[in-house]
Order: sequence, then C-alpha cells, then structure tokens
Amino acid sequence: MAEHATVKQTNSDKIYERACAVMVGGVNSPVRSFKGVGGHPLVMKSAHRATLTDQDDNEYTDYCLSWGSLITGHAHRNVILQTKKLTERGISFGASTRAEVEIAEFIVESMPSIEKIRFVNSGTEATMSALRLARGYTSRAKIIKFDGCYHGHVDDLLTTAGSGVAALAESSSAGIPQSHIENTISLPFNDTAVFEKVMGEQGDQIAAVILEPVAGNMGVIRARLEFLRSLRDETSRHGTVLIFDECMSGFRPQRGGVQADVGITPDLTCLGKIIGGGFPIGAYGGRAEIMDHLAPLGPVYQAGTFSGNPVVMRAGLAQLKLLSDEFYQALNTRCNAFATEMNTFFRDEGIAAHICDYFSMMSLRFSSDPVYNYHDAQTAQGHERYGELFHHLLARGIYWPPADLEAFFVSGVHSKKDLKNLADALKEFFRP
Ligand SMILES: Cc1ncc(COP(=O)(O)O)c(C=O)c1O
Repeated sequence: MAEHATVKQTNSDKIYERACAVMVGGVNSPVRSFKGVGGHPLVMKSAHRATLTDQDDNEYTDYCLSWGSLITGHAHRNVILQTKKLTERGISFGASTRAEVEIAEFIVESMPSIEKIRFVNSGTEATMSALRLARGYTSRAKIIKFDGCYHGHVDDLLTTAGSGVAALAESSSAGIPQSHIENTISLPFNDTAVFEKVMGEQGDQIAAVILEPVAGNMGVIRARLEFLRSLRDETSRHGTVLIFDECMSGFRPQRGGVQADVGITPDLTCLGKIIGGGFPIGAYGGRAEIMDHLAPLGPVYQAGTFSGNPVVMRAGLAQLKLLSDEFYQALNTRCNAFATEMNTFFRDEGIAAHICDYFSMMSLRFSSDPVYNYHDAQTAQGHERYGELFHHLLARGIYWPPADLEAFFVSGVHSKKDLKNLADALKEFFRP
C-alpha cells in the first residue's frame, strides 16, 4: 500500500503501477497525481450523485466534482437520458446540429453580455482563442493577466499561473519560448493602483485584459468591486477587450455567472466545465461586433474537429436546464450555512484558518488573515498540513481536490448531512 494511504487501495495501486509504465506520472493531468498531498492517486470506478467509488469499492462524498463541472452531481438522470438518446443516433457528425443551436440560445439568454458564442473542447482552448480574437480585433499584441489566475495551459498565459503550476520553480513552464510571453504583463490581482498605472502608460497597446472575476485557482478570491469597475472603465477608455474567464465561475453562483452577480459586463466571456454537464467543453462569446471577426465571417482563424459535438451539447444543455432559481437558492443557502458554521468555529476556537467562499465554490486557508491576491494565498497555504488534512478526510470518506490551491465545490445533490459530515471531519482535524 502507498506510504500515505489511509484507505485500502490495493486495486488502485495495481492500476496506478500499470499507468506509470505507459502514462507520464501515471496521470493525464498533473494535479490528479497526489503530488501535492502525498501518496498515490486513487483510481475511480464509478460515480453517482455526490458519491465517487474507487477500484477498491471505497466510497467518498466528492467535493472535487470533476473540478467544478458537476453542479448537479454525478450522472444526473437527465444528462444520462439525453446523451443515451443521442448516441443511439450517432455520436459525431462534424457538421451542424440542432443541439448546438439550442445550447447556444440558452447561454445567450442566460448571459446578456454574450450575443454570439463559439464552442470549443476545453477551457484552455476557449481562453487561447479569446486572446487571439482580441488581438485580431484590436491589431495589438500585448495582454494583461493577473498573478495566480489560471486560464488553462495557454503558452502566453503560463506566467505566475497558480494552482497546478504554482509548484514549479518559476511559476511557469519549460518549453515556452520567451517570444510567447514577452507580450504578457502579469499584475497583482485586486491592485487597482498598479493596474491603472500600467494602463496609463501602455493602455493603447493592450489588446486584452483577462481575469477570473472570482479566482478559483489560488483558492477562492473575489475580485473587489472597485477593481472590476476600474478594469471595465480603463479597458473601455483604451479600446482594450475585457475578458472574463468564467470557465469555473460560469453558472456557479447563478445562471448569469459572476458578471450578473457584480453587474459588470465584459466584452468577451470564456466558459467551460458546467456548460458541458461533465463532458469536455469550452466556449467563448461576447459582443457580436467582436465575435464576427472570427472565421468564417472574419479574418481570425479558429476551428475544431469536435467543436460543438452533439453529445456534449445535449449533456451540457440537460445540466443547464436543471439550474432553476430554486436550485441555486437551496444550494447557495446550504453552502452559506456551512461556511458560516466553519468560520464561527475557527474564530471561537482561536484556530488560524478560515473558509473563503463564493456561493458553492470554496477553499480553506491555513490563516485567519484575509486573502486578496496570490501573495496572500501563498502565505496562507497549508503545505504539508493540507496533505495531512486531505488524507484525514479521505479516511472519513470525503474526497477533496488533491492540491491546496484548488477550490472545492458543492453540488445540488450534496445534502445538509453531507455538509455536516464535512464540517465534523474538519473540526476533528483542527480541534486543539
Ligand atoms: C478559470 C479557468 N480557466 C480555464 C481553465 C482551463 O480549462 P480546461 O482544463 O478545460 O482546459 C480552467 C481549468 O481549471 C479554469 O479554472
């Protein structure tokens, strides 16, 4: 059994050993590797509602939820029904379908800043393509991003990226020529003065400003309203495209995403995760005048063999249709009660920790100090303690993201009892 293992993982370990022989590090995405928490990854077998089952038949209440994709829980029957129906009629046509139009209409209706949309296959593809579009639209090269925001593994954006790459030596990746990042300016998140200074000096050369309006990849951090207002004002003044990367936050707090919550309208929005109902997806959309610069109407090229795949479109739409006002109200109320209970506990017990929450996406900080940016997030990182906590939870049947700068998520099928179990397990860990 693996050194850190707190649960029986004989079958998982056997498969993991085979995986390591043929797949790099035994995984297809580094953050799954348990490198951040110690031990070997569990190999999963099945999932239903809030429960994940591994190859040794251990069951876990899942708060990773395919990295935030499954807001209605695993294998919701509507999603299964829709995808089953479709696969019986064919899986991929590489041609237009009604399914893609229906989900496009649904998203356009839900997010008024999106007049036109383009579907792609991942969040990475969405942000990469949105940047290309912004550069093509403005005929400018430079972009501004913010330290600790992660927008997928886009070459131009892998500078101080947070989450999975935060552990690398220079918070970046090997294999990216300097020429790819020489037009990327990375600024501190939530620092209005620094942003305004840079825009004052270079605003007319900046094609796009991209950010997670609620960051989820350096733990959860809300952008301050005055910061977002400044982004909107400055980008409008300089003809720069403002891109909200809502791959994680889109459809999370409410159907309109963070932008509806804070009342700030970006020019372009990137989406992913939830809109695919658990299938691989990404999308970007926004003002028609900008979107129409894309091929086939305009000169900015972007294409994809599987883009708008009908099975994915049907799964995504099936999940989105479940997101009623009542759904959000019930979910958000449960999450708010959980975060309040935990933060009261930490305060009353004098424990240096707190939950940063944004509706049903949350993260745990190993500090009482508020967290406004990537520097604060790193200061409040648990390091080995997070690994201990992760395995403590695993032993109690709770699966959290295996990396401490990742957010954890709650779905509509997590019950009050599930959240009470999580609160009890956390209290047990922290109680002096
Ligand atoms: C905000 C944000 N943008 C983009 C991405 C990249 O999405 P994908 O992993 O689908 O490429 C992620 C992934 O976690 C994300 O959280």
